[in-house]
Amino acid sequence: MTSSLSPPEVPNELYVVNREKLIKSLRAHLSSSSRPHQGFVFLQGGEEQSRYCTDHDDLFRQESYFAYLFGVKEPGFYGAIDVATGDSMLFAPRLPDSYAVWLGKIKPLSHFKEKYRVNKVFYTDEIVHVLLDLYKEKGNPLLFLLHGLNTDSNKLSKPADFQGIDRFKIDMNTLHPILAECRVIKSDLELALIQFANDISSEAHIEVMKNIKVGMKEYQLESMFLHHTYFFGGCRHCSYTCICATGENSSVLHYGHAAAPNDKILQDGDMALLDMGAEYHFYASDITCSYPVNGKFTPDQALIYNAVLDAHDAVISTLKPGICWVDMHKLAEKVILESLKKGNLLEGDVETMMGERLGAVFMPHGLGHFLGIDTHDVGGYLKGAERPKEPGLNSLRTSRELSEGMVITVEPGCYFIEALLLPAMESSKTSKFFKHEEINRFRGSGGVRIESDVRITANGCINMTKCPRKIEDIEAVMAGAPWTID
Ligand code: GLY
Repeated sequence: MTSSLSPPEVPNELYVVNREKLIKSLRAHLSSSSRPHQGFVFLQGGEEQSRYCTDHDDLFRQESYFAYLFGVKEPGFYGAIDVATGDSMLFAPRLPDSYAVWLGKIKPLSHFKEKYRVNKVFYTDEIVHVLLDLYKEKGNPLLFLLHGLNTDSNKLSKPADFQGIDRFKIDMNTLHPILAECRVIKSDLELALIQFANDISSEAHIEVMKNIKVGMKEYQLESMFLHHTYFFGGCRHCSYTCICATGENSSVLHYGHAAAPNDKILQDGDMALLDMGAEYHFYASDITCSYPVNGKFTPDQALIYNAVLDAHDAVISTLKPGICWVDMHKLAEKVILESLKKGNLLEGDVETMMGERLGAVFMPHGLGHFLGIDTHDVGGYLKGAERPKEPGLNSLRTSRELSEGMVITVEPGCYFIEALLLPAMESSKTSKFFKHEEINRFRGSGGVRIESDVRITANGCINMTKCPRKIEDIEAVMAGAPWTID
């Protein structure tokens, strides 16, 4: 195993840029409602969690908003930004002496000041007096806390809490939509990290493509990917649990979880659907490759694969600022349905199929999602925006128009999911579209997804993912041909 990549240095200017962007947006918002530029943005970082009642701590990963503004890798911190001056502060936990015995040297506050490029660092037990002291001439300061809905998980972010918070004025409504929106448009420094996560993950996918063999276990594919991204890319975390599905498992959209743990033996004739992405310094990649485990596409596998590839390529060649994501989902569905019709699996008018939402039978998930510090990154639905209600479209994680600087996944798929297919084949509205005998040949074959991470530019987009996609390229790589990540 080799790699042409090595993990890049992460400039600590990244958090300075992110904080400046937030303060600029927040001040503009405050000005628009004639409010003073005063108070503190105040966030609580993540806490280490132990496993159930044991003393075993799961590996800590920072909360994403805190990571965005401060980049702090350690648990137990708070962070503040003075809205008036833009000055930033961290509050570090005061660690017990035993820390130095079990967990390493206790770092001085100056270490965190330099590492995270903030103006000052104090201990968490100093929060109240530091913040009150800074505002002693102006009365008790206002704290802008983070409180709002994550539209993917439907969960609320946890506003900061600490002893003595009752001595401050609190604003729980202003910060969340502004900070989420800052995260939607990526800076060049963020894009460089997402690009590295993509490069190392693309390379790892290619490594798996070269080494996959009939008779292996699905988890061996996961293991190869994890080894490559960690060994060569320093990626200790994955963006999400690896989906290494083969055969019929590839129609299980979120396969790979604890109850379906990537443990099937690869059979000759299986398609593999491998959805794996490494996280580099908090920033995600999210890549899916689909191919036959024996290295040679059958005509039926090629039919479904090319239907999905044509949808993937049609969307990517259309993306640019101003394009509506819901229209892209519909474009992908249309291309897939047209291919299935051409391939003699469906019959009838494709527009009528679209009207009956037949596309959602074959692609029940949304076309893609924002990508950044979270795999399903924030900002998919602006406050007040309604989620579409029709089948398929209701799975979309965003319905927004695209803008320069967004990063979004393009991940069309075509699956033969019995729970959707059989009712649709029997329904009086949709039965007529299916060539039943032909479709039956594909039942149990699983599905195909092709997923790339795409960055929207001023005039179009750049595909950040560098895996082979054309059938002839995949077959060549699987037969040993080189494929370079440049
Ligand atoms: N690719 C994994 C996910 O989007 O959940």
